Amino acid sequence: VSPSVRLDAVGRELLLDLSEGTGRTLRVRLLGALKEAIREGQLSPGTVLPSSRSLAADLGISRGVVVAVFAQLGAEGFLTTRPGAHTVVATAGRRPATAEGAEPHVAGSEPDASGVIDLRPGPPDLAMFPRNAWTAATRDVLRSLEDRELGYAAPWGCWTLRHALGDYLPRVRGATVEPTDVVVVSGVTQGLALLARVLLKLGFDELAVESPSHAEQRRILGGHGLRIIDVPVDDEGVDVGALRRSGARLALVTPAHQYPTGVMLSASRRRALIRWAEEKQGFVLEDDHDAEFRYERLAVGCLQGLAPERVVLLGSVSKSLAPGVRLGWAVAPVPLRAALMSAKAADDFGSAVLGQHVLAKLLTSGMYDAHLRKLRRHYFGRRQVLSAAMAEKLPDWSVATDRAGLHLLLHPPSPLDEARLVEVAQQSGLRVTGLRDMYGSLVGQPGVLLSYARAPNGLLVEAVDRLGDAVATLTKAGVQRSRGKAVTSVAATAADFV
Ligand SMILES: Cc1ncc(COP(=O)(O)O)c(C=O)c1O
Repeated sequence: VSPSVRLDAVGRELLLDLSEGTGRTLRVRLLGALKEAIREGQLSPGTVLPSSRSLAADLGISRGVVVAVFAQLGAEGFLTTRPGAHTVVATAGRRPATAEGAEPHVAGSEPDASGVIDLRPGPPDLAMFPRNAWTAATRDVLRSLEDRELGYAAPWGCWTLRHALGDYLPRVRGATVEPTDVVVVSGVTQGLALLARVLLKLGFDELAVESPSHAEQRRILGGHGLRIIDVPVDDEGVDVGALRRSGARLALVTPAHQYPTGVMLSASRRRALIRWAEEKQGFVLEDDHDAEFRYERLAVGCLQGLAPERVVLLGSVSKSLAPGVRLGWAVAPVPLRAALMSAKAADDFGSAVLGQHVLAKLLTSGMYDAHLRKLRRHYFGRRQVLSAAMAEKLPDWSVATDRAGLHLLLHPPSPLDEARLVEVAQQSGLRVTGLRDMYGSLVGQPGVLLSYARAPNGLLVEAVDRLGDAVATLTKAGVQRSRGKAVTSVAATAADFV
């Protein structure tokens, strides 16, 4: 039995699992269910619990049981109970977020009252979300959508959006796509997860990924059961020679703008990559995540346009609109397509219908293109500010020169402990992302990523000051440590800095 109890005057409800499997007596079960709800935060600190009389009535049990349970939870510190006063959830019982159970990276999703500048890459500037255009398109959609269209749509996407993407992707990304080829997904992440399932079933159990690359993505794909093989990236993009030697038949790459180095995959590497896939009868998964943000040269078309039979194109509006929209696309070669559609259907019966219609409207009305033009001006301005501040304040650091994307990749002039730098920067009120995790099993040059997407210009300059402070602190600590140890061991001082 999992009765739902009314918690408070506003009528919030809480489902308590009192099924028999959770304990022998009703008292034990209620005790366990309330503890769990407090630990997991469903009952947050300060929540006023219903009186023992009303809870007992809701649960259909004797009041004495509830009184005993409240008393015990009070004694264990989960509840604050005082005679004649309400019983309130105490602060102590909430389970602290552990590294394992911590929320995934959600940079910039909370207002930062502490003054910390968060330049970790991730979300774009959410203040740029085209609220007016979205509102107008939503109104249009709600006016014209028939009732039946609010039911389950085709799980692989509403026809209007697939049609709009069938126009947009060839026009803007040079993709080879018919509307019927498009599978609407909730983002690149879901597209990859579905493909992992499909490809594992087809016998592909190894996936080559770029080193460095998105650390969370490789964890997710590894979690689906693919064996991850790291392949290095150089200034032409992924090293196809190393990819050949790896033995893999499947590769995940970011050709438009390598994440995180910013390199664009060269023309000869594009050809070599396609040749590799053809010879291996394998597939390339193309993550086209921020291809729209190229500020100088004309955008280069996607790899999929060159070899639609070997490349799966994946993209989303997470950078162009907002990650919270949770809409993206996957265009797969024929041998994978039907299985991908079935996987999407089996996963969630399709993405949210209203959002799909609204996005279709933005795409077909030209609003989306206009918004992208505005975003490019906006981000390029910020990029210039951050680059100039780096050149002025940390001139000996090397800054990746790609004029694209939403972050700068910075390498220190001499080897330094990257993890310590990230830590010391955080103590100086600056959050940045280090490269180390992104190399996977390989070792690469240390560096940090600074996103300029969300911080206004003044904060970007301040961020570079804080980074400079962190570097100075680290260097000073290193010098002091090396002086202290010089007498006993010279080797140890070198190790301190690597
Ligand atoms: C390399 C890369 N790929 C894809 C994404 C987007 O994932 P999704 O479309 O699931 O939001 C991101 C987001 O930060 C990213 O950094």
